[in-house]
Amino acid sequence: MTIYDYIIIGTGIAGLNAARMISSDKKVLIVCKQSPWECNTFLAQGGIVRARDKDDIPSHVHDTMEAGAYLNDINAVQLLSEKSIESVDDLIENGFNFDKNNIGELAFTKEAAHSTSRILHADGDATGRELHMFLLQNCPHEVMTASIVIDLLIENTICYGVHVLQNNDKDKIIYAHNTIIASGGVGSIYKYHTNSVTISGDIQGICVEKGIMLQDMEMMQFHPTVFVDSQNARKQLLTEALRGEGAIIEDEHGYAFLGDYHKDKELAPRDVVSRAIFDYSKRTGSKVYISFYNFEKNNFKQRFPNIYKDLKEIGFDLPYERVPISPAFHYSMGGIKVDLNSKVSGFSNLYAVGEVASTGVHGANRLASNSLLEGLVFSKLAIDESLKINFKINNNDYKKVIPHYILKKQKDKAIKDALRNLMWINVGIVRTRQELIDALEEIEIYLKEDIGRLLYLRLLTAKSIVTSAIERKSSIGAHYIKER
Ligand code: FUM
Repeated sequence: MTIYDYIIIGTGIAGLNAARMISSDKKVLIVCKQSPWECNTFLAQGGIVRARDKDDIPSHVHDTMEAGAYLNDINAVQLLSEKSIESVDDLIENGFNFDKNNIGELAFTKEAAHSTSRILHADGDATGRELHMFLLQNCPHEVMTASIVIDLLIENTICYGVHVLQNNDKDKIIYAHNTIIASGGVGSIYKYHTNSVTISGDIQGICVEKGIMLQDMEMMQFHPTVFVDSQNARKQLLTEALRGEGAIIEDEHGYAFLGDYHKDKELAPRDVVSRAIFDYSKRTGSKVYISFYNFEKNNFKQRFPNIYKDLKEIGFDLPYERVPISPAFHYSMGGIKVDLNSKVSGFSNLYAVGEVASTGVHGANRLASNSLLEGLVFSKLAIDESLKINFKINNNDYKKVIPHYILKKQKDKAIKDALRNLMWINVGIVRTRQELIDALEEIEIYLKEDIGRLLYLRLLTAKSIVTSAIERKSSIGAHYIKER
């Protein structure tokens, strides 16, 4: 019986960087649902924050807290910012290339709610793709694809490993001394989202089932500028860096209305801009657009080559034509409650990193481009801590019966679609207490249906989002309650 030193669930920045931090003499298995690049990191456009220098740390901490409506854990934010320089520099020293300016220095850009330019990017607007490729190339460990984690082997305060369904039906029990959850957020629970199709909150559902604590689950971030008029489940993101560098939000008559909502207009925090777009289009009935009149064509193509290409394929000639946009679900601020070493509260050998975790860094609204950084910083802290603790399991101590789960059942598709719609309408950008209560009732009904394991887990996650939203009585950050 093989016992791995580590099982890592997920191949985004948090999972792959955790793997990079573990020496090749350890036995490590990384599992992912489909292929390794079906993850949100691969899709990240804007970039990664790195404090400009030590003097910039207080300002980065301030911006992160301000965006997060001060619901953040100040110690986690401080740690994130302090570690940003060494963590990003470590990538560079190991051969990663961020974009440079014309005198060969790192090209820092600005995004909403940052008080200075401190975001690094790669291949213009393909930071995530480039980072992902770099991490995969530097991964010394085995990656097992097409493997869906359908259970965590938890007994008392120990995680013995995972129960995986391979190629949709083959049960596989994998034991490990340490389990690192890096499975991402909840995108597929919402009708409109920017996430990879594999991101559907299954592991958060397992946590609900196992009594593993989740926190801030009501804090869902909606990105303001997404092209949603396509058939794809994942909608096309238009990075915030566009607004950072001069793109304007306007109505169908060309009126730039964000100044009516916030003094920082296009550079206001993400939750403010999303709510403003939502409110303006509801009040006026106008479509909302992002326009690029301030850009010169060649500069635009060079700085945003992938957006240029992707939008050209859809039929837009950028930067001359404006693009209709809507907010869409983008990022889950809450998740599995962990300490400052990414250790899951109350467990001896279980860690959570990246979007699936709740370190307290983001508070009620994540500051742009802090997410890749969080994955990078806290994955290293998790590995450092696990090496220090050096916990060993004895797999014979795991006594629970291992059931065979049916992944999907006939009714699932219709309920999944209904859930996405329900979450978008009732648990979206603007919420009312009654809509939240209605959503909870609906989810309880779905949970009693004869459904597959994956949908069941997704529903448990949705239920925890709605329950947290009901419990948080007043508006803060991304959680906006409208009294009716
Ligand atoms: O707009 C963006 O490129 C997204 C950045 C982020 O989610 O941090």
